[in-house]
Amino acid sequence: MNVLLGISGSIAAYKAADLARLFIKRGDSVVCCTTPNALNFVTPLTLESLTGNAVYRDEFALDHARGVEHIGLAKWCDIFIIAPATASLIAKLAHGIADNPVATLYLACRAPILLAPAMNTAMLEHRATQRNLATLRADGVTIIEPACGLLACNDIGKGKLAEVSDIFAAALRLTHPARQQYAGKKVLITAGPTRERIDPVRYLSNFSSGKMGFALARAFANRGADVTLIAGPVALATPFGVKRIDVESASEMANAVFAHALRSDIIIKAAAVADYRPALAAQQKCKKGTTQALHTIELTENIDILHTLCQQKQAGQYIVGFAAETENLLEHAQQKLQRKGADMIVANQVGGSAAVFGSDQNAISLVTSTGVIATAAGSKDDVAETIAEQIHICLTLHPNK
Ligand code: CTP
Repeated sequence: MNVLLGISGSIAAYKAADLARLFIKRGDSVVCCTTPNALNFVTPLTLESLTGNAVYRDEFALDHARGVEHIGLAKWCDIFIIAPATASLIAKLAHGIADNPVATLYLACRAPILLAPAMNTAMLEHRATQRNLATLRADGVTIIEPACGLLACNDIGKGKLAEVSDIFAAALRLTHPARQQYAGKKVLITAGPTRERIDPVRYLSNFSSGKMGFALARAFANRGADVTLIAGPVALATPFGVKRIDVESASEMANAVFAHALRSDIIIKAAAVADYRPALAAQQKCKKGTTQALHTIELTENIDILHTLCQQKQAGQYIVGFAAETENLLEHAQQKLQRKGADMIVANQVGGSAAVFGSDQNAISLVTSTGVIATAAGSKDDVAETIAEQIHICLTLHPNK
């Protein structure tokens, strides 16, 4: 695939080099083009060393091989990715002002265009920027929402360039509709921990980071699924194209899951749901030395969402649970498969040297009624790819599951 990568003058411009690398590793050809300000943040040498191609940075330079260069490059590319896109570049693109190499190529290009904004929150939220983004959307540009986090100006808010892996995945999605093995499927995924309130300042929870569930949401969205992600309290950016519902407690998660379960083809319960909650959450903070002091907490059991889902399973629905175990992993996973009535259990070891909670790595075994059908180890994104692939195989082999 031929990738044209447009870079504008944001501090996030250095991340464009990482993005270019992902395509190069796949065997794609990448040509970068830059606005004059982008060159204050990245050097042509970096981009040219990575891609092996000259950077298009001067509209008035002649390239006799490609003819009028901005027309030649615009025809050459299968996708034009503009990342990062500043507020100023977005404004120019929205109004067709072609006064720099990236904006000129934008006007000349008929390939799919993917744009990843990066800027300060106030600039992003400004009505002018929002109006310009709406114009670009209406013009057919796919926009990857910026993430929330600490910005270069030390503000915390929305405006960070989306994850490079999300931009990469979105580009593959735009250019490879054929790989959409879950197109038309609705997939419901839960992720992260739940928090069970003790009083207004304290809660019971667990160490789940939500990374595995978010990686699954990304893997299924990349394969064309319509993904709804129900997330407990986690600090993770929403994967591109995924609908996210934030919840706090197990009962909020249960309500959100049951509201979506009926119309879901596949349900994956990656969340680490708290089994118990305080029987009574105090309305006021429990104070030391008073009758409300916190010496013991009476617990009451939460609904088992997975078990309930399996009891109410719709025809053709495929339900996957997780089992995080500190011992006898496969034995517990088999028992959970039967006790809960799931179609598949993703078994992962926790504790000891297996730091699953919070880590970017995981090692799993996939257990179905026929035994362990696959294992995978590596990054949570790689593991999620295996899970998505194996569920597809199971659904192809047993379409009425
Ligand atoms: N689960 C759920 N609702 C709960 C508890 C767990 O839906 N109240 C789901 C989890 O999302 C996971 C699976 O059940 O997919 C297994 O969760 P786990 O905590 O490993 O098992 P438990 O059923 O809680 O059993 P135990 O704590 O005894 O291991």
